[in-house]
Amino acid sequence: MPRLLLRLFLGSLALLAPCLAVGDAAAQMPMAWKTGPEAAAIERRIDRLLRQMTVDEKVGQLHLYGRREGFDNGEIRSGRIGNVMNFVDPAEMAAVQKAARESRLKIPLLIGLDAVHGVSTYFPLPLGQAATFNPALVEEAALWTGREARALGINWTFAPMVDMSRDPRWGRLLEGAGEDVHLSGIMAAARTRGYQAGGVAATVKHFVGYGGGEAGRDYNTAWIPAEQLHDLHLPPFRSALDAGSLSVMAAFNSVNGMPATAHKGMLTDLLRRQWGFRGLVVSDFGSIPELMAHGIARDEAEAARKALAAGVDIDMMGFVYSRHLATEVRAGRVPIAQIDEAVRRVLRVKFHAGMDTINDIDPKTAESALQSPPALDAARRAARESIILLENDGILPLDPARHRRVAVIGALARPDQERVWTDPAGVPRKPLESLDAALARLLGGGATISYQPGVTTYCGTEFADRAAAIEAASAADVIIAKLGEDCEFMGEGASRTRLTLPGVQDALLEELIGTGKPVVLVLATGRPLVLSHLKGRVAALVQTFHAGSEGRTAIAEVLTGAVNPSGKTPISFPRAVGQIPVYHDHLPTGRPETKRRFRYESIFMDEANQPLYPFGYGLSYTRFSISDLRIETPRIDPNGLLKASVLVSNTGSRDGQEVVQLYVRQPVASISRPVRQLKAFDKVMLKAGASQRVSFTVPAQALGYHDTAGRLMVEAGGFEVHAGTSSMTELKGEFSVSGSTRDGVRMRP
Ligand code: NOJ
Repeated sequence: MPRLLLRLFLGSLALLAPCLAVGDAAAQMPMAWKTGPEAAAIERRIDRLLRQMTVDEKVGQLHLYGRREGFDNGEIRSGRIGNVMNFVDPAEMAAVQKAARESRLKIPLLIGLDAVHGVSTYFPLPLGQAATFNPALVEEAALWTGREARALGINWTFAPMVDMSRDPRWGRLLEGAGEDVHLSGIMAAARTRGYQAGGVAATVKHFVGYGGGEAGRDYNTAWIPAEQLHDLHLPPFRSALDAGSLSVMAAFNSVNGMPATAHKGMLTDLLRRQWGFRGLVVSDFGSIPELMAHGIARDEAEAARKALAAGVDIDMMGFVYSRHLATEVRAGRVPIAQIDEAVRRVLRVKFHAGMDTINDIDPKTAESALQSPPALDAARRAARESIILLENDGILPLDPARHRRVAVIGALARPDQERVWTDPAGVPRKPLESLDAALARLLGGGATISYQPGVTTYCGTEFADRAAAIEAASAADVIIAKLGEDCEFMGEGASRTRLTLPGVQDALLEELIGTGKPVVLVLATGRPLVLSHLKGRVAALVQTFHAGSEGRTAIAEVLTGAVNPSGKTPISFPRAVGQIPVYHDHLPTGRPETKRRFRYESIFMDEANQPLYPFGYGLSYTRFSISDLRIETPRIDPNGLLKASVLVSNTGSRDGQEVVQLYVRQPVASISRPVRQLKAFDKVMLKAGASQRVSFTVPAQALGYHDTAGRLMVEAGGFEVHAGTSSMTELKGEFSVSGSTRDGVRMRP
């Protein structure tokens, strides 16, 4: 983004903010599958185009090229580049799209970008969005992200990432929705709908098993039994596709020995034949030539042939389709029908998404759609609901009478470098409120707020003025320490074996605790860290997964009690790295933990089995109780519906929101089933003293599991229902399923 443009943007934002014409216009360009005669007309148009296209033009549609200095639009005009990525300047995007219109066949470009948790307005990281347990809000976040992207000229995003992972060592955990498959599926669908309603085609990724890499090491091998693939890893993809995702990205990793980029069984047999997906599959960045490193291709040409044959339509920055496919066709090693099929899928996405009928953006006004008041409002609401209160000895909310001198410590309290790993660089953003400024505003004139960064860099690798930080902390009534992971410590390629605060931050925190002043630790991380050593030593623990543009303001609102926290952990927090994987829906063992004195139980000698904070957990400033679990359907058919309800009461003195969670267990089946599985949840707002009955409906089909052939089984028998305000549920009921089915077909008893 040229500097002048940026200055103009920042200077004029206040004036332009009310005119949201571009964002509004984008809102009228939802991207969705068309049906009936419209879909048939698109196929006929594709037939016509395929007859007109040269082999080089066809290969151009399968090539995705990333922006570089000196990018040559002539390649687009000649039809050799059909898709581009990583542009953020609207003028450049208008220029490349114009070049596509000047090409012989005038096929529009896909212009892709990773719009993971925002473009200009940042929302909490997806893991933080999951902590809201509020799919409508998450959909709204994706909608604004889609609108901002679309306003700049982007029409395709490489999101949502829906990879299931139970391993916080993996740096990309932050892009997903945590450990639970039900929550992940709901968030996957919400994000897909939001992006596409905002005007960008979604790409559900990474197909498949990327979150299952051994030891949480990025790009590493995943070994996933078929049952687990179908029960855990695939369902969120299915949810995103059912929500209309137009594209899918193949994963970097190998799954059960076959690199996902060449996995015909997954990309063609399952995704296309079994699930009926009609959209395009894009490789990950350079993952086609990486088939050589995986050891399944001798050279680039073979890598290209294998990926194409498996069902990868677009080569993202691997350059092997563009270099080799035309030659391979001419040499008879790649059938033209295979190329045509891939081109058809790319064109299908472009035409179903209406990419050639929407008007070009106007670069001069595009930026007025960024950080608009309603987008920032949505970001504020999402940030508020994403904040998880893990510990509170009663210090929160801050009391202006007792907490007159507040020391805010930690560079993360300031938004100077708002950008975190996933964010597109170069997109204009206006300055936002710092944590100290927000606290000063909310605590009023009686409070004195001091700020010290404590650490120099955002990775917390070096101390800033350490003495000044300790001096400020010692002089305060309360210390608000905002520490965490940033830049190199989270995201892609940022796997870790130690889940501590990076750099010198642990040392800084120990010194702050050593002052004897109460410490409220606010964490901004991309994963759960190991926090066991802090239990009982900090007065309060507030977890955020980088809460976004409005995050610091929202944190101050929570700290001061203007907002009652309602976020819940979307993933278990381990007590020690050695516990990993630790998750709520594990199987029972033959030797469960009972007395712990007996060593031949499934326990650790030196650590508890349970996580430090379980899935679905989070405190509030009020108290909620749940009671009176009623099962309205004590006996259901395998195609029927379980109906249950529970009474929730706010028994404290503040209004607040609670996430009521319903888990189901089949205690006896033909295979061992999890100790509990989340099947439904609802977030309710209750006034102090109020009660509400919350009802849940769960299709019996959702109680099933997959066999080794990927067939869904619903088994007759008794089931337990557990309800609570976390996965450590409080209430229990029972019902039964009266007959078994396999893939919907009734089985003999
Ligand atoms: C690699 C990542 O794995 C993928 O998720 C992303 O979309 C691409 N890089 C493009 O940035």
